[in-house]
Amino acid sequence: MTAREAAVAVAHPNIALVKYWGKRDEHLVLPFTDSLSLTLDVFPTTTTVRLDPDAAADHVVMDGAPARGEVLSRATTFLDLVRERAGRRERALVDTRNTVPVGAGLASSASGFAALTLAAAHAYGLPGDAGELSRLARRGSGSAARSLFGGFVVWHAGDPGAPDPDRASYAEPVTDARLDAALVAVVLEPGPKPVSSREAMRRTVATSPLYPDWVTDSRADLARLRRALREGDMATVGETAERNALAMHATMEAARPAVRYRTGASDAVLGHVRRLREEGVGAWATMDAGPNVKVLCASADAERVADRMREATEARVVVARSGPAAGLRQVTA
Ligand code: DP6
Repeated sequence: MTAREAAVAVAHPNIALVKYWGKRDEHLVLPFTDSLSLTLDVFPTTTTVRLDPDAAADHVVMDGAPARGEVLSRATTFLDLVRERAGRRERALVDTRNTVPVGAGLASSASGFAALTLAAAHAYGLPGDAGELSRLARRGSGSAARSLFGGFVVWHAGDPGAPDPDRASYAEPVTDARLDAALVAVVLEPGPKPVSSREAMRRTVATSPLYPDWVTDSRADLARLRRALREGDMATVGETAERNALAMHATMEAARPAVRYRTGASDAVLGHVRRLREEGVGAWATMDAGPNVKVLCASADAERVADRMREATEARVVVARSGPAAGLRQVTA
């Protein structure tokens, strides 16, 4: 592939139904477990990468403001990897725009690094198939490996004993899923983030006495989820996703010092979801590294579930369904 010098890519966030929590290799971003997610159709990130032969450093603009600190250094480290692989030296101008409303707590490094991967690979002329792009995105942020694909996506942890563990860990679409699911996001006050998910994972792996059991259970959850997706069994998908998410939060709450993202408001929403189920509505909760609760349900039930969440809480409620793979867009001058 020849370098295009500039490229624009769009990627959507994803929510894991069986979570990625814990790296066995920090540098290569290799996880302990496989994970499985649904790419959403809301809040895409659009990223433009332009090579700048005259620049001495990468310049990254995020939602109109120059990125600094950790955000800039993660982007630059990632671009260094792309340059090394492409055999190029030019620095880049990166302009990235998120459509997620400020403070919605749904912004994710997944859509950001997926869009950056696709745009940078094209701008620098890096060859590679979808698997290769997903391995590259993984190095930016683990969950980004999944946002390159649409619908249900599995990220293989890869065999630690494989001759090349980097090659063995990539994401791919789940092609045999027969389920039309939705995620109803209940957006709670984010408040200050207690600790970054990166640090929280590290601490969980190093200190939580529950972590080894989480790894074992997660494998069983993944097998059950895959089977249920194949069979179009919404209840098993929902039950598995909810218990996997609650187990992830339990393992980090047992870390020393404890990491707690759940708030009283999150627990109240978890209660509303349980009550909906008792009334016979198929709704199950999942949560990530923040207080928001996402309610998993059949797509046909999404509006009803969203209305019930709006009645029960003051929170902003957003309905998301299955979204597309990351893609390139026309470069404009
Ligand atoms: C709770 O992908 O953001 O959302 O690889 O350190 O960048 P890094 O972590 P990241 O972690 C996502 C954690 C999660 C679960 C998931 O998406 O699987």
